Amino acid sequence: MATYRITVIPGDGIGHEVMAEALKVLKAVEGGLSGPRFSFQEFPAGAKCCQETGTDLPDATLDACKAADAILFGAAGLPAVRLPDGTEIRPQIKLRKVLDLYAGVRPIKRYAGIPPVLAGDPPIDYVIMRENTEGLFASEAGGARVGDYVAVDNLVLTRPGTERIVRWAFRLAQQRRGAPSDGAHRVTCVDKANIFQSMAFFRQIFYEVARDFPGIQAEHAYVDAMTMYMVQRPLRYDVMVSENMFGDIISDLGAGTVGGLGVAPSGDIGDTYGLFQPSHGTAPDIAGRGIANPIAQILSARMMLEWLAETKRDPQCAQAAQAIERAVEKTLIDRRNHTADIGGTARTAAVGDAVATAIQKGK
Ligand code: NAI
Ligand code: MG
Repeated sequence: MATYRITVIPGDGIGHEVMAEALKVLKAVEGGLSGPRFSFQEFPAGAKCCQETGTDLPDATLDACKAADAILFGAAGLPAVRLPDGTEIRPQIKLRKVLDLYAGVRPIKRYAGIPPVLAGDPPIDYVIMRENTEGLFASEAGGARVGDYVAVDNLVLTRPGTERIVRWAFRLAQQRRGAPSDGAHRVTCVDKANIFQSMAFFRQIFYEVARDFPGIQAEHAYVDAMTMYMVQRPLRYDVMVSENMFGDIISDLGAGTVGGLGVAPSGDIGDTYGLFQPSHGTAPDIAGRGIANPIAQILSARMMLEWLAETKRDPQCAQAAQAIERAVEKTLIDRRNHTADIGGTARTAAVGDAVATAIQKGK
């Protein structure tokens, strides 16, 4: 039975509140004779850490990320804590670059029980693959501002950077059940190739890689039209792949169609490291009140277990991941377990308790 070292970074705002529930749930799957087991170690990062220590990502935190088997992250940043250039601190973006977490894996899945957002309550189930290390975010601190007159950020795409994310998307489509509408295994390239050379390059590489996956349907859509399709015909989609900024935007839209950011998990994964965090931020508008939805963080912990199952070849982690999934499904069917963002009155801790109890009962 393996013990996995998990570096835990709650961050700021509701990061702390939702993290406590994810740890509760992981401790619930841990019990029993057959494991897996976890050793959790908490480290600081984020806006508050920056105010207190002068850095938003201390070396000790980064070292702990590198030494761990996996990283569980809450959310970081507070709108009032800004760098001299006017942008916010963002350790999560730094970690993506430093640890080369190039694959942003963002499942958009409809769970029964959550009040429907779209007419007809379609059983949405697709994954957005967001390129995490280049694109418009490549500029990050490399943009330029000339006085009060002009500001520039650059969108940078490389062939290796594009190939690896597209390949990941096709491999993922091979493992999935296909699009809910017709069962087709399909990857949709979401771009703006009609206008930008960088995007035409992205699409060209997409179709080159597609040749290696003859069993998977390859198609493309412009990102603006895609925002409409995601609302009008979401069941067509299985896996989407996109540049960093577009992926950022469409993943929040996708989350909105299944109940909101409170139920949208994500993984930032590379060839060596994996970091798992909800798609949402620190929600300063509700922080400290115990009403945040912990489901996105709990489902991110589930994704962490799936990744450990694959990378460590540990079927017990796969079982634990499935146990969390079943427990979340069961929990969300009961409206008494819904937090305010999905129309209920449940408190953060009560939702974590409900998921943990469902896991215990399922054992
Ligand atoms: P946000 O995701 O924190 O909040 C957007 C809206 O969704 C708010 O109304 C919030 O109350 C709601 N919401 C988000 N998560 C929720 C949850 N679990 N339960 C219930 N409601 C939830 O995005 P916003 O307001 O744009 O950013 C706030 C701060 O978070 C900023 O400082 C931003 O930089 C940071 N941020 C950090 C991220 C990260 O660490 N990965 C990602 C996005 C934003
Ligand atoms: Mg975002």
